[in-house]
Amino acid sequence: MPLTNSMEWMMNPRFEQQVSEDGPAAFLHPERIEAVNRLVSSMEGYVPTPLVNLPALAGFWGLGAIYVKDESKRFGLNAFKVLGGIHAVANVICRRLGVGMNDMTFQQLISEETREKLGDLLFVTATDGNHGRGIAWAARQLGQRAVVFMPKGSSARRLEMIQREGAEASITEMNYDDAVRHAREYAQAHDGIVVQDTAWEGYEEIPAWIMQGYAVMMEEISGQLKELGKLPPTHVFLQAGVGSFAGAIQGYLAAKWGEHRPQTVVVEPDQADCYFRTASIDDGMPHAVTGDMATIMAGLACGEPNLLGWKILRKYTRAFVSCADPLAARGMRILAAPMAGDPVVVSGESGAVGMGVLAEMMQQNTNGERLAKALQMNAESRILIISTEGDTDPDQYRRIVWEGAYPSQE
Ligand SMILES: Cc1ncc(COP(=O)(O)O)c(C=O)c1O
Repeated sequence: MPLTNSMEWMMNPRFEQQVSEDGPAAFLHPERIEAVNRLVSSMEGYVPTPLVNLPALAGFWGLGAIYVKDESKRFGLNAFKVLGGIHAVANVICRRLGVGMNDMTFQQLISEETREKLGDLLFVTATDGNHGRGIAWAARQLGQRAVVFMPKGSSARRLEMIQREGAEASITEMNYDDAVRHAREYAQAHDGIVVQDTAWEGYEEIPAWIMQGYAVMMEEISGQLKELGKLPPTHVFLQAGVGSFAGAIQGYLAAKWGEHRPQTVVVEPDQADCYFRTASIDDGMPHAVTGDMATIMAGLACGEPNLLGWKILRKYTRAFVSCADPLAARGMRILAAPMAGDPVVVSGESGAVGMGVLAEMMQQNTNGERLAKALQMNAESRILIISTEGDTDPDQYRRIVWEGAYPSQE
């Protein structure tokens, strides 16, 4: 039976079509991201992740095109997050060495000479899994230590993958936002460097570097579409935890295309929908969600908006969606079992939710369909979904895709 009424949405009450050059997205301007791209593409094993085209599905739903960026292929790490971690860590190191980022290649970064000049460093972070794995990977490449804290209920498989990268990682009894605070205290007590993928008052530089790293994905996508002779997307779905990912892509789109940018939809799990709630309350302040935030979308189970991301999303995002777990599960299944002729994309819970929401929007007489109408989706629309992770918890992936189960149903 089709699931209905499993998403709520609202148009952004503070939406602005115009983009000012010195606005909150300025640090994500394509000219800035080109330099980040140079570093990322100098990394060993770099290839742009695939941009998958799903023409049969687009035809079935009466849309012009559906593109899915498949981040499961990012450096063999099964998620996009390393893009941010490596750019932030590289900047921290350049700052310490007193050299400019533009003069640094990845090979120099991981050289023995750099290691000797730096001495021992300790990187500290909190994570649901993917960011921590990226930081652990970056620290190992540099011959440095990483300590990683995970929230209560984190997947044992995701913990194991971080430990395999050589980090000291543990699952705490805290939710994500408290684990972030714990990481800060730990770093202070142990002379560590916090590399956190969210910004707060007084901690904005490292998260900005992280977001610039994420924007490389959109730079790749623009290049890939151009190479294929295709037009840019008209609608982009962006899933949000703290909103660094969504803010980075939204910021890049705003800086690149200004008022002619695609319309964006920010998607969150209903248990951790801080952006949706912030938009609903609409008092000009960010609002947090607290508690355990039980959702299968582990990467999105964050209750406190990133300040930098929020400043971008509150102005430039068109609509906010808060949705239940079954939509993420449906998105995973649609991508795993495509229509004849379309390729398979292995997409995890936090990666597939955009597809689940799109599916709901294509279903008649639903709340979702009303959003599709509000966004004027039609046969001319070109949809972009960024599948930000693969099967980062393979056991759960199989339970959801093969058995049709998800934990809140068991
Ligand atoms: C797979 C995946 N997608 C999306 C996100 C959301 O990113 P952000 O927390 O920056 O909103 C995360 C965050 O960990 C993630 O792991």
